[in-house]
Amino acid sequence: MPDSDRAAAQAEIDGLRAAIRHHDHCYYVLDAPEISDADYDALMRRLQALEAAWPALVTADSPTQRVGGAPSPAFGSVTHRQPMLSLDNAFEDGEVMAFDRRVRERLGLDGTIVYCAEPKLDGLAVSLLYEDGRLVRGATRGDGTTGEAVTANLRTLPSVPLRLQGTGWPQELEVRGEVYLPHAGFAAMNARLQAAGERLFANPRNAAAGSLRQLDARVTARRPLRWFAYALGAGGESADLPATHFERLAALRGWGLPVCPLNERVVGVEALLDYYRRMQARRAQLDYDIDGVVYKVDDIAAQQRLGFVSRAPRWAIAHKYPAEEARTQVVDVGFNVGRTGAVTPVAKLAPVSVGGVTVSNVSLHNFDELRRKDVRIGDTVIVRRAGDVIPEVVRVVIEQRPAYAREVVLPSHCPACGAVVVRPEGEVIARCSGQLSCPAQRREALLHFAARRAMDIDGLGEKLIDALVDGGLVHDPADLYGLPAETLAALPRMGARSAANLVAAIDRSRATTLPRFLYALGIPEVGEATARTLAQHFGDLEPLMAADEAALQAVSDVGPVVSAQIVAFFAEPHNREVIARLRAAGVHWPRVAVAAADQASGGPLQGKRFVLTGTLEGLTREAATAEIQSRGGTVSSSVSARTDYVVAGDEAGSKLEKARALNIPVLDAAAFRALLAAP
Ligand code: IVH
Repeated sequence: MPDSDRAAAQAEIDGLRAAIRHHDHCYYVLDAPEISDADYDALMRRLQALEAAWPALVTADSPTQRVGGAPSPAFGSVTHRQPMLSLDNAFEDGEVMAFDRRVRERLGLDGTIVYCAEPKLDGLAVSLLYEDGRLVRGATRGDGTTGEAVTANLRTLPSVPLRLQGTGWPQELEVRGEVYLPHAGFAAMNARLQAAGERLFANPRNAAAGSLRQLDARVTARRPLRWFAYALGAGGESADLPATHFERLAALRGWGLPVCPLNERVVGVEALLDYYRRMQARRAQLDYDIDGVVYKVDDIAAQQRLGFVSRAPRWAIAHKYPAEEARTQVVDVGFNVGRTGAVTPVAKLAPVSVGGVTVSNVSLHNFDELRRKDVRIGDTVIVRRAGDVIPEVVRVVIEQRPAYAREVVLPSHCPACGAVVVRPEGEVIARCSGQLSCPAQRREALLHFAARRAMDIDGLGEKLIDALVDGGLVHDPADLYGLPAETLAALPRMGARSAANLVAAIDRSRATTLPRFLYALGIPEVGEATARTLAQHFGDLEPLMAADEAALQAVSDVGPVVSAQIVAFFAEPHNREVIARLRAAGVHWPRVAVAAADQASGGPLQGKRFVLTGTLEGLTREAATAEIQSRGGTVSSSVSARTDYVVAGDEAGSKLEKARALNIPVLDAAAFRALLAAP
C-alpha cells in the first residue's frame, strides 16, 4: 500500500488514541464524561478497525491493547524498591489524639499540624511503576517486600493510564494505590457468576483480589475494577516534587491518575475527628467500601523526620470504623469436620447483611463456646463482622428466645463418615475418630498438603479436591502423584489444558524442602515454624521418624504435647505407608544442614532465645533463623517469659502484643541487623 495511505492511517490512529485517552480521563479521573458510552464505543471500534488493517501500527500502549493477552503460567515476583508498609490502627478518638500528640512532640511543634485525611479504601494495595511516563510494571503488595507482577492485569483497568499525561513527572515514578470493585460492578459480576453456576465472591474486596490475580488477564479485563492512587513509592524523595502530600496527590491527578475526590487537607486533631464522622455519615452512599479513614502528616519533610517504626509510618494512622453488627435467626446448627478431625459447630443463619457482606454460616469454634454463648436453634443472635475478620456470633438475644428453641447436641457420630466422635476428658475439641477414612478429613488433609506454604501445588483447590475425593480417585496425598492427565481432563470444569497444567504443578512439587514436606504432612501441632526447627535439628526425615519423645524434646520449642503428637503420627502404619509411597513417587528434598545452634556454641548470641514475627524487610525467616543460629542463639515459635528477644517485622501480630505484655525487648529489622553486626 502507498506510504500516503499509511501516513493517513497513522494520523487518524493518533487522533483516535488521543481522543480515547482524553475520554478515559474524563470518565475515570475527573468523573465527568463528555460523550455518551455509544459514542465512546464508536471511537474504540474505529480504532480497532484501523489497527486490524494496519497491524504494524499497533503499539503496546494503544487503548485497544488493554484486553489482556494469553494466560501466563504464573506471576513473576517483584521486589518492591521500598517495602509496602501497613498502617497502625486507631479505634477510639483518644488514640487519634495520642497520635497527634506524638507527632507534635516528635516534631517539637506546639501549634496544630496540617494533615491530609483520606478514606481508607477496602480493596487491595498495588504499586505501579512508570518509566519515562510509560507503565512498565504493576505489582500486588504481597508480603510487603515482594509482590506478584500483575502488569498485564493492571493494564486492563481503563482507569490505569498506560502513559502519563502532562509534564513534570519524574523519570521514574512509583505510584501506590488501592484497587477496588465498585458495588454496582460487584453485584453485576456476582449475578453473572451465579447464572454460570460458579462460586460467588463474599464481598467486593475478595472479588477485587480474585479478579486482579487471574492468570488470564482477559478475565481481569471483564471485571469492572477501579483504583485510586494514594501515595508515591520509590522516587518520592525527588526534590522536584511538591512539598506536601496533598499537592503530590493533585500532581498525580494532573498526570492522569485517579485520586479519591474525598481526600481533604485538614488542620488539627479536632478536624480529623470531624472528617471521620463526616465520612462515616457518607459511607453508606459511597459506591465502594471503606473501612475507616487515614490521616497523614501533610508536610513531606515532616514525614521524613518522623520516619517509621517496624511496620508502619509514624506520620500516618488509620482510624477504623467500628465492627458492624446485625441481628438474625439461627436456623440450624451443623457440624464441620476439619483436617485433624475436629468437629466444629457451625450456626446456619437466616442470611443477613453485615457491613456489606451476606453472612449465612458462622463458626461457633467448639462445643464449649456454643454452651457458653448458649446458642440454640431458633434463637435470635447478634452477628458481628470487624473489618476483614470472619464474622462471629456475639450473643443471643435471650428476650427473643422462642418457646420452640432447641438445644444443640454434640453428634455421637461424625456427620461425614459415621465414625465415633470422641472428646477426651478436659479437651474442648471433639474429634471424629475416622481419620483418613473420613472423606471430610481427607479433603482437608489434601487441601493442606497442596497449600502454597506446604507442597505448593498450584491449581489444586477445593473444588478439584472434592471431585477427586468424591470420585474415589484420591484417598491420600500419595495418590496425587499417579493421576493421569486424561483422568483429570474428564473431571467437571477441567479440560486438556488445565489437566496438563495440574500434572505439571504436581510434578514440580516433587522437588521440595524438608520443612515444607513436614508441614504438608499435617502432623497435629506441627506448624511451619516447628517444621523448620525439626528439619534443622534432625537434618533429614529418617532420624526424625526414629526419634523418641525425649529426643524430640531436646529440640528448642518442642514440649511434651508436640513430641507426643509427632511420635504418634509416625507410629501410625498408614502414615508411614503414605510417606514411603510419596518418596517412591519421587518426592525429594535436599538434606538440611544440621542446626548451626548445635555447633555454634560460644557465639555472641549463645543461649539467647528469639521469636520472629511479621515479615522482615529484605530478610527471609530462614535467613534470619540461620543468622541467629550461627551466632549460637535459638529461634522458637511462641513467646514466653523465657524469650530474650522478639524480632518484629511488617504485619507483626499477636506475638508482638504478647512480647509487649511480657516486657520482652522487641527489635525491628534495623535493630536486629545491628544486633547481628555486633561482635
Ligand atoms: S497509605 C505508608 N492511604 O490500607 C502508608 N493506605 O494498612 C501506606 N489503604 O494495605 C498506606 N486506603 O492498601 C494509604 N488512603 C489510603 C489507603 C490505604 C486504603 C490500605 C493500603 C494498605 C492498608 C494499610
